[in-house]
Order: sequence, then structure tokens, then C-alpha cells
Amino acid sequence: MTSTASAPAKVILFGEHFVVYGVGAILCSIDRRVSVSASATGGKKIRISSEMGDATMGLRPEPGEAPHAAPVAFVAREMIRRFGHAGGLDIDIRSEVPPGAGLGSSSACCVAAAAAVSGLFARLPKDEILEIATRAERTILAGASGADGAACTYGGIITYDVKRGAQKLTAAPGIRIIVANSGEAHSTAEMVSRAGLFREENPGVFGELCRKESGLVRRAGDALRAGDARSLGREMSENQSYLERIGVSGRRLREIIGIADMTGYGSKITGAGGGGCIISAAAGRDVAKTMDALRGCGCECFETGIGSRGLDTFLTD
Ligand code: MEV
Repeated sequence: MTSTASAPAKVILFGEHFVVYGVGAILCSIDRRVSVSASATGGKKIRISSEMGDATMGLRPEPGEAPHAAPVAFVAREMIRRFGHAGGLDIDIRSEVPPGAGLGSSSACCVAAAAAVSGLFARLPKDEILEIATRAERTILAGASGADGAACTYGGIITYDVKRGAQKLTAAPGIRIIVANSGEAHSTAEMVSRAGLFREENPGVFGELCRKESGLVRRAGDALRAGDARSLGREMSENQSYLERIGVSGRRLREIIGIADMTGYGSKITGAGGGGCIISAAAGRDVAKTMDALRGCGCECFETGIGSRGLDTFLTD
């Protein structure tokens, strides 16, 4: 029997980095997915195969294991222990999401892996899948807020904070989001520690930015509910100025944002920053103009519907 699960990628519309320190954020799933298939084997090995390479490992963690496979290996070992499985696992990962671009490829992978592997033994509720996926993500980013995994699990548009978790947000139709990839890979862990250092060295400024971000997230929620792309774009630009202040932007990202803002309503980095993607709010005919301009400066870009379906699971013989 093979158990398969697919989870969507996500964008953070508002609140990255500040969410780690308890501020609310708004995220949504997008139309790109990671799909994971799992089957039980007789041997005492876990085999993980993906575009990043194949890794075979034992049932207990050993030094020198492939770091890219660590979160999925964590999920596999956790499920083997939880369900008392006597053998090993074969896990195949297929992804439409570029890694290291701020679109949650690793979160979607952890969520889909937790659902696919657990599906071999039981049908776990989404909250439990998310809990295991978040612990898996924390093997590579100890302070992860859990926001990305929540968006990949539940899908749609959510508000998220570390105390209350995810709440559904219903947006009016009409808002369109352009995602443009700077082509510069980034390290989430490095950017999170950069933001942490800024906070340590500038506690007053950081506290004030957190306060402003909370108000901004409330206004952005209103703009989404009203389908008001112009206000949404304005809040994105404001959010970007806070992200610039804490040092998680970069020259190339600023250049792309400048280009998007010539025809779009406002834009910002999405995810950890330092590279990866930006998002831009747009509507109507301006979408095509903005995309042309972004492609003209060498960015791979796409328009996405916001709020695609969340985690899906199915079994095959
Ligand atoms: C990374 O996609 C989002 C951050 O806010 C980190 C986190 O929430 O764990 C930078």
C-alpha cells in the first residue's frame, strides 16, 4: 500500500519575523504543491528520495546524515515509534515549489510527509499532523513560529499567532498576488538570527515595530475582507519598510520591489528575506504590466490565486 499526501506552498502576506515574537501574521496557500508518497518496507532502513538527492538512513539518527533530509527523517522515525512499526519506510518527494525561495517548500514537505507516513497506519487529524510537522521543522530552525506549516496544512487564508495558532480569514474576491523570484537563495535560519540580533541590540525600536506591525496586520485583514487591493498594497509597502529596518531585505530585492511598484499597488519580501521571493498586490490590467516588467529584469514570476486547498491525503494499493 502507498499513502500519498500533498500540501500547498504558502506566502506570508504580512508579519514574517515579527510573528516569531508573538505578533500576528497573515498567510495564504498558493497554487504550487509538494506531494509525498510513503510505503512500508520490511528492512530497518528509511529511504528518502527527492530532486535534492537520495538518502538512506537507519531507524536511529546517526552523525553525518544528509541535512536536507533531516526533517523528513524526523517525521519517519516519529511515526515508526508512535505506531510500533517493525520495518522501514520508502518516501518519495515531488515538489513544484522552488527551495530556499520563501514559499514554504520545507514546511509543505514536512506537512505532506507527516500526513503520508501516518496515513499508512492511521488517519490523524490535521492538528496532529501539523504538530509533528512543526517539530520536524524545528530540527532545522529551532525558533520556527509554526506559521508556515499552519498555512500549508489548512490552506486558504489564515491569521496566525504563536499563542492562538491559525484562524481562517475570508477575503473578498478580486485581489491578485504576483510572486517574483529574485533568484537569490537564502538561509531562513540566518535571516531569523539576523532579525533576532537586531531585536537584541535595539529592543526599543523592535518593540515599537512590533506594535506598528500588529496595527498593520489588523488593517490588512480589513483590506482582504473588503477585497481592497489598493489598501492591501499600501500595507505591504509599509510592512516592507519595517522589514528593511530590521535588516532582512537586500539590494536585489529592493530593485525588484521598485520595479513592481511602478505599476502594482505595493509589494514586499515574503518569508525570511535576504533573497527568495517578493509579492506584489495587483488587480485588473496592471497585473500583466507588472509581470512583464518583472520578467524584463530577469525574475521568474507567476500570478497566484490566494487560498488554494490545504492538505490532501489518499491511499492506493
Ligand atoms: C519564514 O518563512 C518565516 C519567519 O517568520 C520564521 C518563522 O515564522 O518561523 C521568518
